[in-house]
Amino acid sequence: MMELRKRMEQLACRDKFPFHMPGHKGRFPSLIGNFDPTELPGLDNLHCSRDVLRRAQYRVADIYGAAKTYFLVNGSSVGIMAAIVTLARPGDCVLVPRNSHKSVLAGLIHSGAMPLWIEQPLCPRLSHWLPPAVDEVKRLITAYSVRAAVFTNPDYYGLAPDIAGLAAVCGGEKIAVIVDEAHGAHLTWGQDLGLPKSAVTAGCSVVVQSPHKTLPALTQAAWMHITDLGLAEGLQETLNLFQTTSPSYLLLSSLEFAGAWANSHGAAMLRRLNMLVAALRHRSRQLDLELCPPTYNRDWTKFLLPNRRGLVQLLHSQGIYPELIQTDKVLFMLTMADALDPKGVAALYRLLPLIAALPPSPGVEVTPPPMPRQEITPREAWLRPGEMVPLHKARGRIARQVLAPYPPGTMVIGPGQRLEQEHVQYLQKLHAKKVISQWLEVI
Ligand SMILES: Cc1ncc(COP(=O)(O)O)c(C=O)c1O
Repeated sequence: MMELRKRMEQLACRDKFPFHMPGHKGRFPSLIGNFDPTELPGLDNLHCSRDVLRRAQYRVADIYGAAKTYFLVNGSSVGIMAAIVTLARPGDCVLVPRNSHKSVLAGLIHSGAMPLWIEQPLCPRLSHWLPPAVDEVKRLITAYSVRAAVFTNPDYYGLAPDIAGLAAVCGGEKIAVIVDEAHGAHLTWGQDLGLPKSAVTAGCSVVVQSPHKTLPALTQAAWMHITDLGLAEGLQETLNLFQTTSPSYLLLSSLEFAGAWANSHGAAMLRRLNMLVAALRHRSRQLDLELCPPTYNRDWTKFLLPNRRGLVQLLHSQGIYPELIQTDKVLFMLTMADALDPKGVAALYRLLPLIAALPPSPGVEVTPPPMPRQEITPREAWLRPGEMVPLHKARGRIARQVLAPYPPGTMVIGPGQRLEQEHVQYLQKLHAKKVISQWLEVI
């Protein structure tokens, strides 16, 4: 019985207008061939590339202006983990935004490094963290001996920090900067269209991107750029430990395709997409549906609407599938593929007046408390035996597990953090909304 395949086919029939990952949106059927090789003679070796893969990776490095690029077959996740493990040793202090993706936690667990969490202001309109401020980062690196820093550019909702400012303050202190640019592989082609600056041109040491999210590449296909060749050997060594020895050449060749296609068509596609998004935003402003303050440094390809009662049913009835549905907002991911074929954007545009007429959503997002105190490293906590307790008994205990419900996979609680009453109350509210279970593993 091919139950999974059947489910996929059923969803494919309903999901006429995908506003979610992957970035190719099913509009590049040639990506999925009928030949699925791994490292056969003549196809080079991802772990020690000398031939065709080496040249493909250099072409992508040239496109982005990087010193070197590594193709990845386990998403940005593996690149982020490998970068942290390579750049930070046990006990080293690593500066990390509090809304990091869970792969950052995985990197900290593997490396044994100690996170120094950056407190970020909360945007009440989005009930979401704003990017780390340069002054706050400057304060932290003056007060602590920091080995490396991780920044997200942009985040899942498109919000971007002043990446050049962050790179400059860290660079001044010789702190290696790793950038989770999983949502930013397309930024390069929209610099004159108001897209946030890419970390590669801001001079950050390691920049990890997921072309599968925003370019026409297959799910899981990602790459990592470096600007400092001094890191090349160490990173290759760590990647070789973390990545499969049977990389999919469908994924690898989709990366080659994504780079070349975006380089030829990216600027024109983003110009077209920019006009489509401007129309969506203009109409939603007229209808009082605009959620995000226009002054934010934000990737406009992530379109947000306030959630309304019955909105999801309305969207699904028209074959529109958003990337993320939260109590207070709905996130639509638009990519160059929507510029190639704008029927999905047109369908969403036509629906806006009906959406505006829906009653408000009954729920509100719960506001997170300040970050719990990090008592021990994530690795120390991870290695200790854990005990599952109901949330109301977690007060005063140290978390052992990573709590990062997906989507968006953003960390809520990490190993080694001491939970106070306010954190337990927050977790209970998330449980009431069915976002997390009522059990937590603590030590
Ligand atoms: C901000 C952020 N970073 C990293 C990742 C991991 O990327 P990948 O799915 O390519 O492993 C994600 C995934 O959604 C993400 O949202």
